[in-house]
Amino acid sequence: MALISGAGIPEQEISADYPGRGFPPGFLWGVATAAHQVEGGNGNNQWSAWESAGRIKTGEPAGAGCDWWGNAERDFDIAQQMGLNALRLSVEWSRIEPEPGRWNKTALGRYREMLDGLLRRGLKPIVTLHHFTHPQWFEKEGAFLGRGAAKRFESFVRRVVSELGDLCNQWVTINEPNVFASLGYVLGEFPPGSKGEVASALRVIHGMARCHAHAYRAIHEIQTESQVGWAHNYVVFEPASSGSSLDRWSAKLLGRLFNESFLNIVESGRPPFPINLLNGNLSEVRGTCDFVGLNVYSRFHVEFSPRHASQLFNNVYVPDHVPQGDSAVDKPYGEAFPAAITAAVERTARLGKPIYILENGVPDREDRIRPWLIVNAVQELHRLIREGNDIRGYFHWTLTDNFEWSEGWQLRFGLLALDRTTQTRTMRESGRLYSAIAKSNGLTPEIAVRFPVSIPGGA
Ligand code: BGC
Repeated sequence: MALISGAGIPEQEISADYPGRGFPPGFLWGVATAAHQVEGGNGNNQWSAWESAGRIKTGEPAGAGCDWWGNAERDFDIAQQMGLNALRLSVEWSRIEPEPGRWNKTALGRYREMLDGLLRRGLKPIVTLHHFTHPQWFEKEGAFLGRGAAKRFESFVRRVVSELGDLCNQWVTINEPNVFASLGYVLGEFPPGSKGEVASALRVIHGMARCHAHAYRAIHEIQTESQVGWAHNYVVFEPASSGSSLDRWSAKLLGRLFNESFLNIVESGRPPFPINLLNGNLSEVRGTCDFVGLNVYSRFHVEFSPRHASQLFNNVYVPDHVPQGDSAVDKPYGEAFPAAITAAVERTARLGKPIYILENGVPDREDRIRPWLIVNAVQELHRLIREGNDIRGYFHWTLTDNFEWSEGWQLRFGLLALDRTTQTRTMRESGRLYSAIAKSNGLTPEIAVRFPVSIPGGA
């Protein structure tokens, strides 16, 4: 037995003899979702316009989602029965402020009902204020490239926190600025669908950083005891050949652009060189986080390639032999790589703030590999906590299969399978495993025997 005490975590005993056993008391075992992916009936944001324009690869819109607007409580009941103690969800800006400055009381009332429902079931809510979607009117103003973006976002955030603040005190301002910017402005997979516009993508990140800082200060003004952060997607970029200095340079460049840009701005008020040449003064963003939220999924291999000029000469790919879930519509989704949690935690521990894994999961309709991913993620977390890292929670993405953005409904990330026609849920084996872990606050030898996992091969 080893005694550990991480910053802020009460001293406790953690069994040294079994990897994954015994987490700090009060550790959050949750699931994560986002409004547009689960609510159903969202027709006033830039994603619904994108769907109507036929831009989803399977042709399927979000549609009725998982019917959360009508009955999120069905999933809250399941989360409670599974023994979870937290749930991350987002609020939909286009419902709350359908036109600039016009507030929809009914929508705010429904979110109050949801948060209250979570608390009554013993589930701590963490609320994301922007998870990829915003009103079409904001998109028309140029979204995060628009001059008035920070004011617009701040005013929305003030309203939400004033109306819901008695039911929630932990806020994620923005989900994955790096994913939003790269998929929307470099890879063309998210609205507005631009390709190869690396400078615009960086400007979007800077615009989002300003919005985040405004929101951070506004929330603290309204709710002094609040915890405010953002959700950072962290990817491991592996040089295709470690012997090639060009591949190493490519992997480093991508890491700098993708993993470091927003992070550096929060740490120091400056983006990393040479990105700071675009916009040097972001000092208002420095220090604006009370916790680090990490969304961690994958590792990608990177090779220097003269044929990929629009991606800064980087060919990013997934080798066939690595563990993978299901393939996306026209390419692999990514390597399932639990060790990315360690890389992300080791990098962000430097900020000296509590860390939450706010998303981790794999698309896996048949549940071939998800149990393996969960067991390995829990073991990584357990080791990292024993080493003294202040990790306070793990949120699996996601509870119920939901709308997976440009991939439509093809990719199934749920611990529960969803039949979209009947809205029937069926618990996958990984759901039973995760429930057992949450109920035991760790991975016991008994759970390991009950849920044997095999080491997965490639796709
Ligand atoms: C996003 C989710 C998405 C998940 C799986 C994350 O980057 O925040 O909205 O569904 O990845 O791809």
